[in-house]
Amino acid sequence: MTGQSILLAWYDENKRDLPWRHTHDAYSVWLSEVILQQTRVAQGTEYYYRFLHTYPDVRSLAAADEDEVLHLWQGLGYYSRARNLLKAARIVAGLGGFPNEYEQLRRLPGVGDYTAAAIASIAFGKPFAVVDGNVYRILSRFYTLAVPIDTTEGKRTYASLAQEWLPAEAPGLHNQAMMDLGATICLPRSPRCECCPLGDACMAHAEGRQEEFPKHARRKIVRTRHFVYLYLRCGSEVFLHRRGRGDIWQGLYEPMLIEFGHAPTFAEISASAHLPEGCIYRLVAKGLRHQLTHQLLVADAYVVKLTDKPGGIDGIWIDESVRSDYGVSRLVENIYNIIDGVLDEEPACQNQQ
Ligand code: ADE
Repeated sequence: MTGQSILLAWYDENKRDLPWRHTHDAYSVWLSEVILQQTRVAQGTEYYYRFLHTYPDVRSLAAADEDEVLHLWQGLGYYSRARNLLKAARIVAGLGGFPNEYEQLRRLPGVGDYTAAAIASIAFGKPFAVVDGNVYRILSRFYTLAVPIDTTEGKRTYASLAQEWLPAEAPGLHNQAMMDLGATICLPRSPRCECCPLGDACMAHAEGRQEEFPKHARRKIVRTRHFVYLYLRCGSEVFLHRRGRGDIWQGLYEPMLIEFGHAPTFAEISASAHLPEGCIYRLVAKGLRHQLTHQLLVADAYVVKLTDKPGGIDGIWIDESVRSDYGVSRLVENIYNIIDGVLDEEPACQNQQ
């Protein structure tokens, strides 16, 4: 058996039973691939069902409202994916159906090299290899590749090796076999080499150097931002602000936010928040950490009880009972959960400026 057929035979026996693997329908395959960008399979599966149930075909998704799509996406993060999903659905519906060529798929919003290769191979049987972290790990270990993955040369090397490995007769199955091998056997830490179909042919395994690969040229730079959320309540109403362009979470809602470049003291928060004298506030979360790809957010949250709505703030007041109609980031959802757990208790402090 060739290495390719060994991998395919292994996949046939060991593949994960995932809902999008029971279809070649391009809409379903595309939906699953966009959801699985930066999302784990266990979490993505629920959203896949949710989207297919609400929008059974590309035309129904194309006709949806952006707010509705963002709301259904809530909790998955990286909301530009949801906005691109809708834009792409509208383009595809306008074309009368999914294009079946890699280049045309690649031009759809939110469809990068990986997603285009996945759709082209899985839905249309076209010979395009997917390349992602799993593939980097498998190939770098198999050949003990010294070239770092985050360099132009590395990207070129891995893309061409992945393409060489791809059997023309079963590109979709092979790509998914690579995904499963990376997700279940060739793990970043403590890979399960004893169960690996590639066995001793893997040079890193033979040399006991699995954890050295893949190689990176540089560490990624992470910026830290300090967020202070003020959950303003006035009677049964709460204040929400809608996030604008040019930053994370565009179009999502959140309580009043004050941002600092450093961990703020309470005096700094109080001075920036312009809370009316005498209002009652309570600290409900301190130093909540939320990791995005290139940013670490560290958030504090206060519940603030007001007797009058302050003027001059940019946002809306809604009845708290309809709060879940407004899409929020995962961080804000976590804060809501904390607040809901303490809301019955009386706020603790009074503002004295
Ligand atoms: N990750 C991205 N695409 C996937 C797929 N089709 N199956 C499993 N995991 C994936």
